[in-house]
Amino acid sequence: MLKKILVMALSLLMMVLFTACGQNPPATEKPAENPATTENAENPPAESSGKILVAFFSRAGDNYETGVIEKGNTKIVAEMISEKLGADLFEITPINDYPADYRTCTEVAKAEQESNARPEIISYVENLQDYDTIFLGYPIWWSDFPMVVYTFLENQDFNGKTIIPFCTSAGTYMTNKENQIPEIAKGSIVREGIGIKGKECQENPNAVLEKINAWLAGLGY
Ligand SMILES: Cc1cc2nc3c(=O)[nH]c(=O)nc-3n(C[C@H](O)[C@H](O)[C@H](O)COP(=O)(O)O)c2cc1C
Repeated sequence: MLKKILVMALSLLMMVLFTACGQNPPATEKPAENPATTENAENPPAESSGKILVAFFSRAGDNYETGVIEKGNTKIVAEMISEKLGADLFEITPINDYPADYRTCTEVAKAEQESNARPEIISYVENLQDYDTIFLGYPIWWSDFPMVVYTFLENQDFNGKTIIPFCTSAGTYMTNKENQIPEIAKGSIVREGIGIKGKECQENPNAVLEKINAWLAGLGY
């Protein structure tokens, strides 16, 4: 409970900092190394899971702290998980690309968030019924999911499916929004997620891989 309150307070602080800096990135980072926020006490063992999908949204181009990157931070993590588990990959791709310029992108993302937009995506998972477990990856945008992630979650049938969130950001935190996944992707079950520092994906992928492996082991994989 204390952990939850702490994470909520830190998320709020991050949001305030991000907002206070306008389009500038947050001034501070989260202290916790692995501040996953979702309880997993009642989670089913991984052995009961069937086919696994790793679905993610990620944006290359000019990014916070990293400069121009060829492969998005979240995509790097998604590929690690997919490779480790032998899982299929699905990239959530908006019809309209987000601007490659970081500041312009933050403005577009803010406007989408304020209008509660549901940007259209190019495709959905054709054979979603084949998967029991979906790892869901996204960057934190303005202390929330990018709005395309809402589009993805709201427009497919996730009833009874297990969703395991992972995110990248300026820090190593999650926002607690992931706890709302069962209401957004109606009838789904959410398991313990992980927050990874985006910059580390580019600069020290081996360290990220270690964290991912430890987290997956904790989930029973
Ligand atoms: C539009 C936008 C909004 C962002 N908002 C936040 C934020 O609220 N908190 C944070 O810690 N980082 C924020 N960031 C930084 C990204 O979460 C971080 O760079 C992430 O690793 C990007 O992942 P990607 O390369 O997979 O897109 C934001 C970045 C962008 C482009």
